[in-house]
Amino acid sequence: MPFIMTARDSKILLSALKGEEISRPPFWFMRQAGRYLPEYRALREKAGGFLEMVYDPALAAEITLQPLRRFGMDAAILFSDILVVPHAMGRSLRFAQGEGPVLDPLTVPEIKGLSAEDVDSFCAPVYETLRRVTSGLSAEGLSGATLIGFAGAPWTVACYMVQGGGSRDFETVRRLALSDPESFQILIDRIVEATVIYLRGQVRAGAEAVQIFDSWAGLVDARHFKRWAIDPVNAIVRGLRAEFPDVPVIGFPRGAGTNYEAYVAACDVQATGLDSGVSTAWARVHIQPRKVVQGNLDPLVLLQGGDEMERAVLSILSDLGGGPFIFNLGHGIIKETPPEHVARLCDILRDWRG
Ligand code: CP3
Repeated sequence: MPFIMTARDSKILLSALKGEEISRPPFWFMRQAGRYLPEYRALREKAGGFLEMVYDPALAAEITLQPLRRFGMDAAILFSDILVVPHAMGRSLRFAQGEGPVLDPLTVPEIKGLSAEDVDSFCAPVYETLRRVTSGLSAEGLSGATLIGFAGAPWTVACYMVQGGGSRDFETVRRLALSDPESFQILIDRIVEATVIYLRGQVRAGAEAVQIFDSWAGLVDARHFKRWAIDPVNAIVRGLRAEFPDVPVIGFPRGAGTNYEAYVAACDVQATGLDSGVSTAWARVHIQPRKVVQGNLDPLVLLQGGDEMERAVLSILSDLGGGPFIFNLGHGIIKETPPEHVARLCDILRDWRG
């Protein structure tokens, strides 16, 4: 069957998010801009550091476009970081080479002093990046790509703020949420407030959809899942919709396990991102009838490539490709991934017609 490009296909990722019929599942990849690309590493070398790139609109726009030039994904995701929000709230932030983010651990007495009032002025360079990407996409003939903005979910952002950096289990944070839920709630509310300002700014500057990353949702137990993982995301969505009623939101509660059911039932997002642990056969029955599904190739399988990757991709497509679906990974691209594997994956996805 010849592939007929209709007017509705002009941004197939946006069409998928609206539940419209499209000719194939659109695709993009978390961390599609980053260290697996030699052209990213070259820029990082010159810039000196990660945050220097994030707050430089010319560099950040260039990095956002790099993977699209090579692979032609259906979306560009803003090059930035979820920790820009605590930074904009006045917390210290640095990225030590090979060490990940380092923040001053937030103490309980500091929580009440947190303020979202500087978010828009602090994030002006990020908004400028989005404007530049928007013009770059049309100037470079990439206007079929949807521009995705993003923020961290309050739980995940709170994890880094309280812990002061990455952790396997964020025990300090979970203990605070249990021992002093009132203070923790204030922290979550302040992050919600800052995130609404930040995402509105992103959409004003050109973001056409947004993703909310809850990378550590898997650390919230079932009894508290509504309070710490669902309600704060709904508060953000409400705030965003007050200004932009139609902007699609993708929620990604990584590692939520059986809490995915509650998330899908109660979260007011258009699409749900699946991590690689979720069975696509299960998602087809339990999630796809209610939400657009996004996911979930294991980044390790992309690293491996070859026949194993091809089998895994076709299996995901055969389970989910018939309904509202956006192909993605179950988490970010691993930095050792050969770019040729990403190219091969894009070819498979572009050629697939169910
Ligand atoms: O997906 C994209 O291409 C867009 C850009 C993006 C980055 N971070 C760039 C980045 C996005 C969407 C993020 C989100 C983010 N940042 C999350 C949520 C998604 C996830 O991975 O779970 C989290 C938890 C962070 C916080 C963060 N930023 C950590 C823990 C680290 C260190 C780990 C690592 O991979 O080095 C970062 C750094 C970071 N963010 C890099 C990039 C490209 C690597 C920076 C570098 O050294 O060049």
